[in-house]
Amino acid sequence: MPLDPRSLFPDAFEEVLAGCLPEMAACHPRLHAAMAHALLGGGKRLRPRLLAAAAALGEDVAPGPVLRAGAALECLHAYSLVHDDLPAMDDDDWRRGQPACHSAFGEAMAILAGDALQALAFETLLGAAAAADLPSEATRDALADLSRAAGALGLVGGQAGDLEPPPVPADLDRVLWIHARKTGALLRAALVIGGRFGALPPGEIAGLGRAGDSLGLAFQAVDDLLDAEGERDDLGKTPGRDAALGKLTLPALLGADETRRRAEAWLAEALAALPARPAAAPLRELADALVHRRS
Ligand code: IPE
Ligand code: IPE
Ligand code: MG
Ligand code: MG
Ligand code: MG
Repeated sequence: MPLDPRSLFPDAFEEVLAGCLPEMAACHPRLHAAMAHALLGGGKRLRPRLLAAAAALGEDVAPGPVLRAGAALECLHAYSLVHDDLPAMDDDDWRRGQPACHSAFGEAMAILAGDALQALAFETLLGAAAAADLPSEATRDALADLSRAAGALGLVGGQAGDLEPPPVPADLDRVLWIHARKTGALLRAALVIGGRFGALPPGEIAGLGRAGDSLGLAFQAVDDLLDAEGERDDLGKTPGRDAALGKLTLPALLGADETRRRAEAWLAEALAALPARPAAAPLRELADALVHRRS
């Protein structure tokens, strides 16, 4: 029977995710608590959903390892949120409807929890690849995908650009450069790694990568719109932070209507890059939902 990725969320995924944390008895107790706080306290689980929906394009795909690979992406994402909220970065004290990791555990422990979650992401992906009996080449490619997405040419590089004062005059290419890296790189990796777990042909994996790039821009455009227009209870984070920090965002640069129009155009590009066969329906639905989300 083909894998229905929608049936795996939230319950099966949450169980696998919780199982990725280090054994409590062997771990420093406050570090464990800070990691659990960051990892298990809500969130849309978008990257694991994308990964599972991409893997479901393959035949005879076992759900367990796919969920574990999704958990790896969620560990990486959770670390990025913990560090993004630190006083030295966006200085946000509220995340996923609860105190940010550093508000609950202190800055030093939040930095360490983020570090440990990033390492856990790679360990978890390796475990998922072994459980799936992925060929060694696909395993190596998946680890390279995640490394590239996480590092200086990906998420961390985008976050570095995001810290700089915006150029005067404002520059659209600069904003898109940052968004492609801080957000797009991990969405691309989620789809491409899903494709590797689904043993898809190289042409389809390349298409998933292009879809991830477009979805990343659309996703961050909507994140910026929600920061400007959303409510704290819906978002689970404090709105208005981008303006307070003087960030150059798409709505600030282009206005809300044009930002929405561009998000739709990026969604259309993403959909055009996805396979047309029926097995892609859950992935198409998910792409649509993440651009039309309200939180
Ligand atoms: C927030 O990501 C950070 C960005 C890259 C914009 P999400 O909106 O996916 O956050 P959660 O996981 O649902 O909390
Ligand atoms: C964060 O972008 C991207 C990463 C965490 C890598 P934002 O700073 O806009 O994300 P939020 O709005 O705090 O979730
Ligand atoms: Mg930020
Ligand atoms: Mg932030
Ligand atoms: Mg934001």
